[in-house]
Amino acid sequence: MNLDIRPFRPDETGVLKAIRLAALADNPPAFAERLDVALARGGEDFSEPLARGAVWGVFDDRGRCLGMAGLDRFVGANVEHKATIWGVYLSPTARGGGTGDRLFSAIIEHARGVGITVLELGVGDFNLRAQGLYARMGFVPYGLERRAVRLHDRYIDEVLMALHL
Ligand SMILES: CC(C)(COP(=O)(O)OP(=O)(O)OC[C@H]1O[C@@H](n2cnc3c(N)ncnc32)[C@H](O)[C@@H]1OP(=O)(O)O)[C@@H](O)C(=O)NCCC(=O)NCCS
Repeated sequence: MNLDIRPFRPDETGVLKAIRLAALADNPPAFAERLDVALARGGEDFSEPLARGAVWGVFDDRGRCLGMAGLDRFVGANVEHKATIWGVYLSPTARGGGTGDRLFSAIIEHARGVGITVLELGVGDFNLRAQGLYARMGFVPYGLERRAVRLHDRYIDEVLMALHL
């Protein structure tokens, strides 16, 4: 499939909101945010990360958004070499064909270009598929955050992973 992997444009807040809601509905334990909270957010809440060019999207040749991932750089002179990857999601039809690799390659290339040397992320300990993708991209586990996510009455531990560029 011919895919365009690029940062969302500032005028694409509606597209970002739609794919983010799909992610939260599809896989609640994988994300920090809850669907009902995200549903209540206005479009303007989605514009700030887009203005920074900090969210990547996967678009098919008809312009439909099939996936996303965000990059949040730490603020502060002594920590701005680090960034967190968040919100990684591919719609079910886009999985299993190497699209995740391409999405990560684009973000890693960008991170290198702007002087980021440490990429971090947290992933549910149950989420072996996501861990497989991250390991393939070179991320290495460095810790386990117990009770990282609380989903109603259940806690989820997260594996903390990092890639040094
Ligand atoms: C996480 C996600 C982006 C991965 O993309 P993908 O295209 O599905 O991933 P891949 O097909 O490349 O699979 C990744 C690895 O997991 C393996 N895998 C696939 N299904 C698996 C399963 N059910 N259990 C364990 N491993 C599995 C694959 O074989 C591959 O491993 P390999 O590198 O050793 O071959 C995608 O599945 C997704 O959006 N999931 C829902 C949201 C989510 O979990 N996001 C992550 C939040 S941290």
